[in-house]
Amino acid sequence: NSLAECLNIDDIEALATKKISRKAWGYYFSAGDDLVSKSLNNTVYRSILLRPRIFVDCTRCDTSTTLLGNKVSVPFFVSPAAMARLGHRDGEAGIATACGTYGAMQIISNNASQTPEQVVAGKEDQVFGWQLYVQTDRAKSEAMLQRIHQLPQIKFICLTLDAPVPGKREHDERTSLGNPSGGVAANLPVRSAVQSGSASTTSPDPEAKTLRLEEQIEDSDSAGAGGVGKALFAGTAPDLTWKATLPWLAAHTKLPIVLKGLQTHEDAYLASHYAPQVQGIILSNHGGRALDTAPPSIHTLLEIRKFCPEVFAKIEVFVDGGIRRGTDVVKALCLGARGVGLGRAPLFGNGAGGVAGVERVLEILKAETETAMRLLGCERVEDLGPQFVNARMVERD
Ligand code: FNR
Repeated sequence: NSLAECLNIDDIEALATKKISRKAWGYYFSAGDDLVSKSLNNTVYRSILLRPRIFVDCTRCDTSTTLLGNKVSVPFFVSPAAMARLGHRDGEAGIATACGTYGAMQIISNNASQTPEQVVAGKEDQVFGWQLYVQTDRAKSEAMLQRIHQLPQIKFICLTLDAPVPGKREHDERTSLGNPSGGVAANLPVRSAVQSGSASTTSPDPEAKTLRLEEQIEDSDSAGAGGVGKALFAGTAPDLTWKATLPWLAAHTKLPIVLKGLQTHEDAYLASHYAPQVQGIILSNHGGRALDTAPPSIHTLLEIRKFCPEVFAKIEVFVDGGIRRGTDVVKALCLGARGVGLGRAPLFGNGAGGVAGVERVLEILKAETETAMRLLGCERVEDLGPQFVNARMVERD
């Protein structure tokens, strides 16, 4: 079994599952409770049918677009996901290298296993966002924002709001790392205190951190101690509100803000009133890892179309969760998504073969997206629209 033999994202997941540790698999695969939302994320796309047109010249096909005003070659991007180095030592920086090859945008997780400085190093022409989990100790988040402002490749802050506490992820608990006592997540001051000084206040030593990470993973055998997810969420603030948090964030960054984890049209409508500093929203149920039985993002997208379509004119609307095929990408774009995020696919790509594995993921999805656009009768991303889908089977009354 090799990367070249992987023809789709499911093949990549299967290959990664053979290669990565049980702990990494448990953390990546897991979702809340009974995995209802996770599985709906995938199946909802199967209930949306495409409506291809004939007699359209599809000699050319252009998947490029702009996301938040930044040019990208593909309409899908890497959603923030923690702990890439659990799967392969190339980690988030390797994912960034692959994104460079395919002109894709990447959002770096607050809980990445490498520092943002490491991830963007040498990637001056690429587009990144940085995802924030506001810490209970706000000074730590403020210090991280100051570090982010030194990195011109990072174009926006993505504030994740669907997981004030982690969901109950039983696969993760069963195969757990336990409560890592030092350095696993490169950006979390609490857990990187083993390094010289706090990551939030001093310039971190990237090499020392990544070595430490490897030792942690090798050494830990405390299965059943609550899961990687729970350990990572230890310092995350559960008390965020519209009234207090957005003004606080606006006071500490001039970068555009993207809100992640919206699951209702009501919240999308509220978010649109915070434009222009809030420039986008990511409809997401956190890959099913937060509240189980929360809706797949396509449901929320359809709600917005029905109840408050003016949102699309005010802010860019993105979706993630369950994207496995080029046809999934195309369906979301037809229904009004500006771009589509990938969570597990790049993590499994990384697990299957580091940079080359993530490149294979992006290569497959780009080719599938092109094929879907051509067969649909669309040359360009901006030509995609609701006339190309029949979403009646998932539409809300
Ligand atoms: C995530 N996700 C996530 N989201 C976020 O805002 N910050 C984070 O640190 C993480 N970490 C994380 C780790 C792992 C292992 C997974 C699988 C997911 C959620 C992620 O951004 C995204 O919303 C979902 O993963 C999308 O669903 P798919 O593509 O995995 O089906």
